[in-house]
Amino acid sequence: MRVLILYETRRGFTLTVARAIRDELQRRGILATTAPLRSVDDGTVVAADALIVGTWVKGAIVAGVGPALGVQEGIARLPSLEGKRAAVFCTCDVAPRNTLDVLAVWLRRRGAEVTVGETFKRRKSLRQVPRFVDVVLEAFARAQANA
Ligand SMILES: Cc1cc2nc3c(=O)[nH]c(=O)nc-3n(C[C@H](O)[C@H](O)[C@H](O)COP(=O)(O)O)c2cc1C
Repeated sequence: MRVLILYETRRGFTLTVARAIRDELQRRGILATTAPLRSVDDGTVVAADALIVGTWVKGAIVAGVGPALGVQEGIARLPSLEGKRAAVFCTCDVAPRNTLDVLAVWLRRRGAEVTVGETFKRRKSLRQVPRFVDVVLEAFARAQANA
């Protein structure tokens, strides 16, 4: 299984989480790569069996909170995601509000089957990565069995 991790980062923490997820998948013998959501090439997306898409959370803490600017356009520009299993994650300082749901809706509109999501707050949340990878792999296996 080839897993592609797409990320939107501003100061680098979302990229750090994306790389930690990639490294954890690779430790388990899975082909995993990272690429920036807005400049990934079509061939890389087409070659992936499954996607993990992550964004930082942008807003004014309570108002207008959601995926970072450019994420919706980035997803719209991807080739068809029909038949691809997907998971989502976000990074934030306070609260993601409905960021993961919004991200999942955008990906589902492109045909992806989004099953699970996770929020990472600040550095110590990197400890959540192995558990998130467990959950993602279980969900991907279930989705494949149901396909
Ligand atoms: C302009 C701006 C708006 C933000 N708005 C929120 C917010 O509404 N809620 C929140 O929890 N974090 C908010 N954050 C924090 C970022 O989502 C968080 O630091 C994130 O991990 C940054 O990821 P990055 O290092 O990949 O850019 C905001 C950060 C910036 C720069």
